[in-house]
Amino acid sequence: MKIAIMGAMPEEIAPILKKLHNYMSVEYAGNTYYEASYKGVDVVVAYSKIGKVFSTLTAATMIEHFGAQKLLFSGVAGAVSPELRVGDLVVANKLAQHDLDITAFGHPFGYVPGGSVYVEADKKLIALAKEVAQEMGQPLKEGIIATGDQFVANEERKNFIGETFGADALEMEGGSVAVVCDALEIPFFILRAISDAADMDASFSFDAFLETSAQISAEFVMKMIDKIIEQE
Ligand code: ADE
Repeated sequence: MKIAIMGAMPEEIAPILKKLHNYMSVEYAGNTYYEASYKGVDVVVAYSKIGKVFSTLTAATMIEHFGAQKLLFSGVAGAVSPELRVGDLVVANKLAQHDLDITAFGHPFGYVPGGSVYVEADKKLIALAKEVAQEMGQPLKEGIIATGDQFVANEERKNFIGETFGADALEMEGGSVAVVCDALEIPFFILRAISDAADMDASFSFDAFLETSAQISAEFVMKMIDKIIEQE
C-alpha cells in the first residue's frame, strides 16, 4: 500500500518529514516529492504550493505517477463557524469550491455541468479519525470545508461562504484535491487546524499561528497513518 500525505505549504509538511527520518527526494513536474517507508508502508509526501491549480497537479501526480492509493491532506484553515478557535481541528465531510461561479447561466454557486457543488470525503477515514480523536482526547469537528483561490480576510466574504455553502472552515486546496481523488476513486481525507477567523485580522493571525496549527494537524494525520497501518 502507498499513502500520499499532502500539504500546501512547507510548514504544513515539515512536521511530517521530521517523523519520517529517512526519505528520498524526487523532482517531478516542477515539484519535490518525498518518498519513504514508514512502519513498513510506502508513503509519498509533498507540499503543492498554494491554491487549487497547484494542489490539483500535486494530488493527481501523487496518484497517477507515484501510485498513491489513499490521500491524506494536512494543513491550516480559516474558521467560518464561530465555534471554531485557533488550533481547533476540523475534518471535511464534504467540500465545495466557493469561487466557482457560472451563476450568470442560472446555475448555483460552486456548480458546473458535469460536476457537483459538493464532493464527499471518505466515510471510513472520517470514522477512523473519530477513533483517533477519542483515543487522543483531542476534540475534532466534522464539517463542510469551502475552497477558493483567495485568502479570505473580510467578514462579508466569509459570511457569504458560510451562508451559501454551509461551510465551517475555508481554505485554498481541499476542494480541488477532493475533485481529483473522487474522479480517480482514491479514498481521501482533508484535515485542517484553524489558523485564523478569515476576518480583517486574518493575515496577522495566519502568520502568527501557521506553524503551531500546522503542527497540530500534522501530528493528528500521523496518528491516522499509524491507525491505518494497524488496521491493514
Ligand atoms: N487558510 C488559512 N486561513 C485562510 C483564509 N483566511 N483564507 C483562505 N485560506 C486560508
